[in-house]
Amino acid sequence: MSKLWGGRFTKQTNELVEQFTASISFDQKLALEDIEGSIAHVQMLGECEILPMDDVELIKEGLKKIETKILNKEVQFSVSDEDIHMNIEKMLIDEIGPVGGKLHTGRSRNDQVATDMHLYLKKQTYELIDWVGHVQASLLEQAKKNVDTIMPGYTHLQRAQPILFSHHLLAYFWMFERDKERLKDSLKRINWSPLGAGALAGTTFPINRNRSAELLGFETVYPNSLDAVSDRDFILEFLSIASIMMTHISRISEELIIWSSQEFQFIELDDSFCTGSSIMPQKKNPDVPELLRGKTGRVYGNLIGLLTVLKGLPLAYNKDMQEDKEGMLDTVETLNGSLRLLAPMIETMTVNTEKMYAAVATDYSNATDIADYLVTKGLPFRQAHEVIGKIVLYGIQHGKYLLDLSFEEYQSFSPLFEKDIFDVLHPTHVVEARNSFGGTSKEQVQQQIVLAEKKL
Ligand code: ARG
Repeated sequence: MSKLWGGRFTKQTNELVEQFTASISFDQKLALEDIEGSIAHVQMLGECEILPMDDVELIKEGLKKIETKILNKEVQFSVSDEDIHMNIEKMLIDEIGPVGGKLHTGRSRNDQVATDMHLYLKKQTYELIDWVGHVQASLLEQAKKNVDTIMPGYTHLQRAQPILFSHHLLAYFWMFERDKERLKDSLKRINWSPLGAGALAGTTFPINRNRSAELLGFETVYPNSLDAVSDRDFILEFLSIASIMMTHISRISEELIIWSSQEFQFIELDDSFCTGSSIMPQKKNPDVPELLRGKTGRVYGNLIGLLTVLKGLPLAYNKDMQEDKEGMLDTVETLNGSLRLLAPMIETMTVNTEKMYAAVATDYSNATDIADYLVTKGLPFRQAHEVIGKIVLYGIQHGKYLLDLSFEEYQSFSPLFEKDIFDVLHPTHVVEARNSFGGTSKEQVQQQIVLAEKKL
C-alpha cells in the first residue's frame, strides 16, 4: 500500500514496523475531533485565500461524508495508514479525488494531533465536570436525610468524637468541589490552540491562526510554534487532577466497604450494586467500591507513565509522544465510569442509624467533653486531660462507660465535678456542643448544606 509520505522511500515498510508504529487502534477515538479540526483549518485556508473556496467546500463536504460513515460504523481503518490523521486524509482523497490532498496545506500532523487532543480533552472535561456534580448531588441528598444521624468520628480508625453522618458525607462533597474547580481551571490551558504551528516552526503560508482557533472555540493560540507541538502539560494536568480525584473516590470507597462490613453494619449498599460469591451463598460483596479503589492504581500509573515519557524529550515532536494517548483515553474512561457508578451507589445505600448510634453510646468518645467541662470549671486543659485519662482507665477496668459512672465516682477524681456533668455526656449534646464554624453541630451542618447547595 502506498504511503502518504512515500516519495523519498525506495522500500516498503517492514510489516512489524508498520504494526509497531501505528496508533490507529487507539487514536481512532479522536476521529471526530480530527475532522472538526480539519474543517476549521480548511475554512481558514479558504478565508485567507490560500485555497479557492470551491475546493474548500468540496473538502468540507467530503469530510462530513466521512464523519457520517464513521458515526454509522461504515469505515474500516487501516494499520498501513498508521494513524487517524492519515486514515482520514486517505479516505478524503478516495472520496473527492486529488483535491483532497490540498487539506494538509500549511499544517503538519504535529499541530494536527495536538489540536485533536485539546479538542477531545475539552469535551471530556466538560462531561466530567457534570458527573462530579452528580456525585456531589448524591452526597448532598444523603447529607440532608441524615442531619440527625450520629456516628462515631474516627482518627487512626479509633473512635474519636461523635459526629453527624451528614458532616462526614459533606467532607467528601468539598473534596469533589475542589476537583471540579481544578477541572474548570484546567480549561484555561486546554483552550490554547496549537493549530497552525506546523511541524515545529510555523508555515510559509499566510494563515490566520486566530481564525481557526476561533472556529474551534479555543480562547487563544500558543504564541510559540515549538511549544505548541511539544506541549503535553494539559494532558499531564488532566492526569494529575484525575489522580487526585481517584484518591477521593478510593477513600470514600474504602469507607463504604468498611461501613458495610459485618463488623460495622453502618450502611447497606443496594443489592443492585453488589455481587455474590460462586461458593459462599451468604455473601454480598461490595465489588463496586472495591473496583473503584482498585482502578485508582491504573490512573496513577497513567500519570507516572506520561511524566516519564516526557521527561527527557528534546523539542519539538518526537514519536515517543504518541504514547500520550492510551493513558489519557483510559483515564477519561475510568474516571467517567467511576463517577457514574459512585453517584447512584451513594444515593441508593441505606443508613443504619441505630447501629451508628449504638456505637457512639458504647465508647469513650465523650471524654474530650468532660475535659472541656473541667476547663470551664477553671482547671487548665492539660490537667483536665490527665484527670479524664484516669477516669477512662477506671471505666475500662470496671467495665463502665462514662455515662454509667456515679456522681460519687466522678467526685472522687475531682471536686470540681457537679451534678450537671451528666448533661454534657450524651452523644447528642457532644455533637451539638461543637458549634464552631465548620463543626459538626446540626446548626453548623445545616449552614454547610446551604453553602453546598449554592455550588450545584
Ligand atoms: N500518530 C502521531 C502521534 O500520535 C501523530 C503525529 C505524527 N507526527 C510525526 N511527525 N510522525 O503522535
